[in-house]
Amino acid sequence: MHRAVLVATAAAGLIASPTLAGAAPDARVGADVRGVAAQVLPAGLPRLPPSPPLAPEAARAGFTLPPGFRIELVAAEPLVQSPVAIAFDARGRLWVVEMRGFMPDAAGRGEDAPSGRVAILEDSDGDGRMDRRKEFLDGLVLPRSVAFAGGGVLIAAPPQLLFCRDAGGHGGDSDRCDRPQVVSTSYGTAKNPEHDANGLQPAIDNWLYSANLDQRHRFLGGRLVTAPTISRGQWGIAQDDVGRLVYNTNSDYLRGDALPAFTRAAHLRQSRGLNVVLDPDRSTWPARPNHGVNRGYQSGLLRADGTLSRFTAACGPHVYRGDQFPPAYRGNAFVAEPAANLVRRSVITQQDGGGLAAHNAHARGEFLTSTDERFRPVNLATGPEGALYVVDMYRGLIQHRIYLTKFLRQQVAERGLEAPVDRGRIWRVVSDAAAPAPPPKLAGASDLALVAQLAHPSGFWRDTAQRLLVERQPRDRATLAALERLVARAPDPRARLHALFVLEGLGRLDVTGDGGTRARGGARRLLARAGQDRDRFVRAAALALVERGEEARLAALAVALAGRARLDAAALARVRGRELDLLGHALATPAWAAASEGRAHMLAQLGARVAARGAPAELLQLLELVTAEPREAAWRQAALLTGVAQGRRGGSARLPEPPRGWARVLRSDDPAVSARAQALAAWVGEPVPAATTGAAARALNADERARFARGKALFPGICGACHHPSGGGDEGKGPPLVDSPWVLGPVERLVRITLHGLRGPVKVNNRVYEMEMPAMGALDDAALADLLTYVRTEKEWGHEAGPVDPATVARVRKQVAEREAPWTEAELLKLDP
Ligand code: HEC
Repeated sequence: MHRAVLVATAAAGLIASPTLAGAAPDARVGADVRGVAAQVLPAGLPRLPPSPPLAPEAARAGFTLPPGFRIELVAAEPLVQSPVAIAFDARGRLWVVEMRGFMPDAAGRGEDAPSGRVAILEDSDGDGRMDRRKEFLDGLVLPRSVAFAGGGVLIAAPPQLLFCRDAGGHGGDSDRCDRPQVVSTSYGTAKNPEHDANGLQPAIDNWLYSANLDQRHRFLGGRLVTAPTISRGQWGIAQDDVGRLVYNTNSDYLRGDALPAFTRAAHLRQSRGLNVVLDPDRSTWPARPNHGVNRGYQSGLLRADGTLSRFTAACGPHVYRGDQFPPAYRGNAFVAEPAANLVRRSVITQQDGGGLAAHNAHARGEFLTSTDERFRPVNLATGPEGALYVVDMYRGLIQHRIYLTKFLRQQVAERGLEAPVDRGRIWRVVSDAAAPAPPPKLAGASDLALVAQLAHPSGFWRDTAQRLLVERQPRDRATLAALERLVARAPDPRARLHALFVLEGLGRLDVTGDGGTRARGGARRLLARAGQDRDRFVRAAALALVERGEEARLAALAVALAGRARLDAAALARVRGRELDLLGHALATPAWAAASEGRAHMLAQLGARVAARGAPAELLQLLELVTAEPREAAWRQAALLTGVAQGRRGGSARLPEPPRGWARVLRSDDPAVSARAQALAAWVGEPVPAATTGAAARALNADERARFARGKALFPGICGACHHPSGGGDEGKGPPLVDSPWVLGPVERLVRITLHGLRGPVKVNNRVYEMEMPAMGALDDAALADLLTYVRTEKEWGHEAGPVDPATVARVRKQVAEREAPWTEAELLKLDP
């Protein structure tokens, strides 16, 4: 494929880092770039002319695709504006989330206005182009996602999840949501649109998964249930045919889980094979110069021809599960890169050990490129007919103000990229090899017809049939028998998997539940048979479902044990190998809240047995159970640590990573806890951080306390977006700040890191990270002093280093005013404060 690089003819772009979405502005953030060094185009790059908005047809002419594919316009302004996410309902109608409040101008003024909308687009004449629009819900502040669930529609508008029941999309008449119900108020933080929850991706296990959030959701008995999982990715999330999730961060374009979402291990931070980099090669191959990216001044980010050399705004990862593209494309990952005006296609391959890897399908090229700087693909989906849909926000500036650099601000001003913001397009890529299938009529289909669709070759049809069946909850023998037949005999393993999870969604696979002995027997037999399936994913699903029954048994055991004095041999035998799980249930059970000698004894017994096995991942999990306990439960921490001391082997524990929050336990104000933890410190391999030992830091004065409070409020939306709101680090996004010598050590280094960022490798608590932190110098001296005071003195983290005042930040800023590049570890270590 030939991809001409247009130099100088078209304008270069802007944008940059991650993506979008949801929050009220904080006047102090990003308001001032004083002190940031000159940020100029690297030598040799010519200035580019403006890039005025193009009409859809002209924009279409700028696309390049592999032979055998074409791209068609599905919708454009005024039918759609600032689209950021889409979903297809059971009638094939296109639902679109419009984030019209995103960066209304280069200062982000008005982003807290309730201008966001969710609309339904319809193609009434079947030509593939939308011609009708219905307002479903408006008045939203930076809405981010839409999904069909629980017989209604879920809409993400952090920090809320909204639900509209009996509205649109599934045979109901109402295509308007007049009274959305707030079903969650902890969906994200609404503090930083580039780092907030989004996604609501339905997976094969009947749960909805989100990016940037450690929660998953599903409807059970008509109510939204939330359960913990690991936090994944940044903007966009998708599943493959067997329920493995893929996601990404702005620079790390494809990450994913080797474990399907239906496995229990897929939700534990300690599991291996979760959140792994699928392709270490981050290079991009745009068709036009991209001078206007946020960090375009950094050497090497732009090539000599002005094209962006690597991902900086990767988002909207998607797995193609349709049947309209040729077979080689099925199961491929597609990723949007709005900063480089392209869509990547990567081939995912299965490694020998079960792990996943991926590589660019087009050597030194891309699946879809555009020469139009305003082409901003931010999300992807497969339509019911099997086309690949591209959600194009169509605007000049898509970098959010929080990280907007002076460099990009200049590009925007020089080349008129700020306006207009009322455009938006949805495109579809169609293969010439097959005619697109007609739209689905699943909403009115009978239950048995839906069961048959579970064997459809296209993912949309299988997923939608599964969702509708679970929503309808059929109880008749014919439907249930058809589902069981599918589990036993469908030739396509994907159909067997779907049928299994429909039965799960109907409550038919509960081996311990109250469905009666006959139902339990039937479920056991069915799962036993599926456990012998030829396909390893069907076998894994059956095991996971049996496991769920096992979990219920452990939960019941935990309740029963709460009144005992110790674990007898019989009870110990029953939980052999599952002590950690039993501990998890016990600690979560109200009956274990009050201290008693018996309960303390049992916690120690269980802890000792886990420690005696000496498996590093288990030990880490055990220690994190200790660190996660609240202060009121010091007796439980002491009991567990007693057990660890009894069971531990010699040498060191060789943990895969330091336990989160260990410093807090070391310095617990309960002497029984701190003494036991300190006795174990060397074994755990995590001695008390040097910078915080010695004389206790002086108490903060009133001014410093106010700084701390402001910093604490700012932290989750700014530093916490990458370093996790707990400061404990977030895999793939940022290393831990808790216990970090960079935080607790010399202020001179810490201020430099925040002003200009840091480029890896960097060692934090015995682990080397190799990523890049962006410059945070757009924050003013006062805001930085607030944040740094907070991170250095947060007692919850066990931090007692001194506060930081604005004058210190101002002084360092002046000293390094000429600097542009991020710091390296070596440079920082050379500083002699
Ligand atoms: C956009 C993501 C992002 C944001 C926002 C961010 N960081 Fe970082 N930070 C990183 C990454 C990634 C690294 C590791 C860089 C490397 O590998 O060299 C890092 C490294 C660090 C380090 C050194 C390593 C460590 O863990 O101690 C410190 C200290 C730090 N950041 C502090 C902060 C503070 C304070 C803020 C808020 C003012 C902040 N960061 C905001 C991503 C971020």
